[in-house]
Amino acid sequence: MSSHQFGGRWTEEKLGRLKKYLAAYTKIFKANERASYLRTTFVDAFAGTGTYTATKESSQASGVEPSDVYDEDAAAFQKGSARIAIEVEPSFDHYLFIDKKTSHIQELEKLRVQFPDKANRIKIVQGDANKVLKDWCHQLNRQKNRAVVFLDPYGMAVEWSTIEAISQTQAADLWLLFPLGQAVNRLLTKSGPPPQAWSNRLTTLFGTEEWKEAFYRPSLQMSLFDSEQILEKRATLDGIGKYFVERLSTVFPKVADNPLPLRNSKNVPIYLLCFAASNLKGAPTAVRIAQDILKQ
Ligand SMILES: C[S@@+](CC[C@H](N)C(=O)[O-])C[C@H]1O[C@@H](n2cnc3c(N)ncnc32)[C@H](O)[C@@H]1O
Repeated sequence: MSSHQFGGRWTEEKLGRLKKYLAAYTKIFKANERASYLRTTFVDAFAGTGTYTATKESSQASGVEPSDVYDEDAAAFQKGSARIAIEVEPSFDHYLFIDKKTSHIQELEKLRVQFPDKANRIKIVQGDANKVLKDWCHQLNRQKNRAVVFLDPYGMAVEWSTIEAISQTQAADLWLLFPLGQAVNRLLTKSGPPPQAWSNRLTTLFGTEEWKEAFYRPSLQMSLFDSEQILEKRATLDGIGKYFVERLSTVFPKVADNPLPLRNSKNVPIYLLCFAASNLKGAPTAVRIAQDILKQ
C-alpha cells in the first residue's frame, strides 16, 4: 500500500477528534426514528490517500524511529480521514472523496476493493475541492440529506465562497483546519501590510478585506527630521483565531467557540481545528458535542 507523508503528532490529534464526532453523528442518526428518512454523507474534500505515514517530526515526537512507522502495529495509527470515516459504525449512507492529485485518487479507489460492502456508496472525484464542493452544495436537497464536511488542506486552499456554500446547505456540519501559524500569520507581515498577491489570498480565505483593519493599526514612525504614518501589525495568533471564528459566525447559525490549536514540536499552533453547524435545528446539539470533543 503506498501512503501519503504529511503532518506530525498533531495529525493523530486531528483525526482522533474527527473520528469521535463521526461516531457520535451516525449513532444519533441511526438511533433517531424521526431522522431515519434522512440520508447521511461524509464529504472529505482534501481526502489524501486513505493512509498516511508520519513525517520525521512526528516520528521523533512520538519516540519511534522512522523505519518503525511501517510496522503493522504502527499502521494502526496511520489511517487517514477517508479510511477512518468508512470504518465508522453505524456507517454513513454515502461517502464523497475529492482530491486533485491522480496518484491519491488511485489510492482512494482501492478503498472500494477493501470495503466491498460499502463500495457502491463511495464516490471519488478528481478535481479542485472548492469547485467540486460548491457544485455538490448547490445540488444538495436539505429535506432529504445531512452531511459532515471535512476540509483538511495543506495550507490556504479553502476559499470563503466554499465555506459560505456549505453554510447555505443548512444541512452540513463543517470540520475545518484553519492554517493559523502554518500560513496566515506568516502572510501577515510585520513590516506593514502584505504584498498584493498575499493580500488577495487572505481576502479569498476570509471573504472580506476587513482583516486589514483587524490585523493592522496606524502608527506614527518618528525619524530624526520627520514623522510618517505607517501600518503596524497588531495581530496575535490568538486574535487571528478569534477573528476567523467570528467570520464563521457570520454565516453559520452556531460555531464551536473552543477551536483546538494543533501545535508542532516547537509548540507553535500551526492549525486551528474549527467546527460549525449549518442546520438550524440540529446546530445546538452538534456544537455541544463538537465543543466537548474539542476540549483540551
Ligand atoms: C493534508 S492532505 C489530506 C489528508 C487527509 N485528510 C488524511 O487524513 O489522510 C491534503 C490533500 O489535499 C489535496 N489537495 C491539495 N489542494 C487541493 C485542491 N485544491 N483540491 C483538492 N485536493 C487538494 C492534496 O493532494 C492532499 O492529498
